[in-house]
Amino acid sequence: MNVGEVGADNRRPTWVDLELDRPNALGLGRAAIELAVRAAHAPPEESVRAFEEELTRGRLTGTLLRAGGRTIGIAFWRSLGRVGLSVGPIAFEPTAATPERYDELLQEIGQRVGTVTFVAGPLLGLEAPAEARVMEGAGFARYGRMEMELRFPRAPLTTPDPPTNASVRTVGRDDASALVELHARAYRGRFDRYLFLEEEDEREDARVLVHGILEGRWGEFAPEGSRGLERERRLVAATLVARRPRGPMILDVMVDPELRGRGLGRAVLSETVRALAGSGAEVVHLNVTEGNTPALRLYRELGFVVTMGPTHDWYSTRRIPVPPQVGEAPGGGAGPAGSGR
Ligand SMILES: CC(C)(COP(=O)(O)OP(=O)(O)OC[C@H]1O[C@@H](n2cnc3c(N)ncnc32)[C@H](O)[C@@H]1OP(=O)(O)O)[C@@H](O)C(=O)NCCC(=O)NCCS
Repeated sequence: MNVGEVGADNRRPTWVDLELDRPNALGLGRAAIELAVRAAHAPPEESVRAFEEELTRGRLTGTLLRAGGRTIGIAFWRSLGRVGLSVGPIAFEPTAATPERYDELLQEIGQRVGTVTFVAGPLLGLEAPAEARVMEGAGFARYGRMEMELRFPRAPLTTPDPPTNASVRTVGRDDASALVELHARAYRGRFDRYLFLEEEDEREDARVLVHGILEGRWGEFAPEGSRGLERERRLVAATLVARRPRGPMILDVMVDPELRGRGLGRAVLSETVRALAGSGAEVVHLNVTEGNTPALRLYRELGFVVTMGPTHDWYSTRRIPVPPQVGEAPGGGAGPAGSGR
């Protein structure tokens, strides 16, 4: 890239539809893919493949910033339906990566395409304070996601007894409606509900997500690791697991909000870990939102360690009414705000 040339032509740039065969677009596209790979909780080949597949299927689209016959910026986004748009990765040529450009990009997408709800950070080329000024000025706050893993045989192979009156069992497709109910209650008012939101209606949203897990949307459903705790014939805690190329991934850990802080989460997750170790898995993964203290403490206690992240992303505080941080006080259930999966 010729920085001088870009700087000179940079005055009246225009945003145009994404066309990767434009001069320099592919190069910037590659830079954007590299950013996406760095941010992804997956090995590079897997994330590049996922990125390309989303692009081919039209789930991911974007825009180019053109100036003087050159492409000087590229931004991708995906639609999250009613939730709005998740914007990123974004790559600018070094001289074009200014706070004003990012600001302009967000406004442009907001006006032309739809509400911007999430933005993938960090914003390339900006120092942290400048990035915070742009994003906070546009009504965004930071959040992060982490991947954690537990390698066997480091796992505690003894499972705590389920709390009194609770029995543990495998859960699967036959439990769909109880799982939907539990999911809706567990994530009510939580940041994570918005992270994965598919439908505004809470129950419908839980239905889409739980059925998505059971039907293999995020990897083949793994009954060998999915467990539920029942009390008085009611499902009060559950884990849902998928088979992924790197080993099983725990997609959901949920406890009825009225019964939190009584060991149910630990019991059901320990049982999942024990079952997965027994099924021959060498490692198990999960993702968690930074600030979800109850979940993080539980995972650390069971031996999970952070292997990737936290990511450095932004959410619109106008679109998402709760912060990711969950109250610190143990017992008594949810804190004032939520997070999760
Ligand atoms: C995370 C969750 C499953 C924990 O379930 P739980 O039954 O309340 O947890 P337990 O009573 O078994 O507690 C086990 C450990 O978790 C941690 N923990 C539980 N509640 C906590 C809280 N309010 N604050 C801090 N740590 C907490 C503690 O380390 C606790 O061990 P301790 O009792 O020895 O201190 C539950 O809060 C939940 O359903 N949250 C909403 C959904 C969600 O966020 N899931 C996780 C997605 S990644």
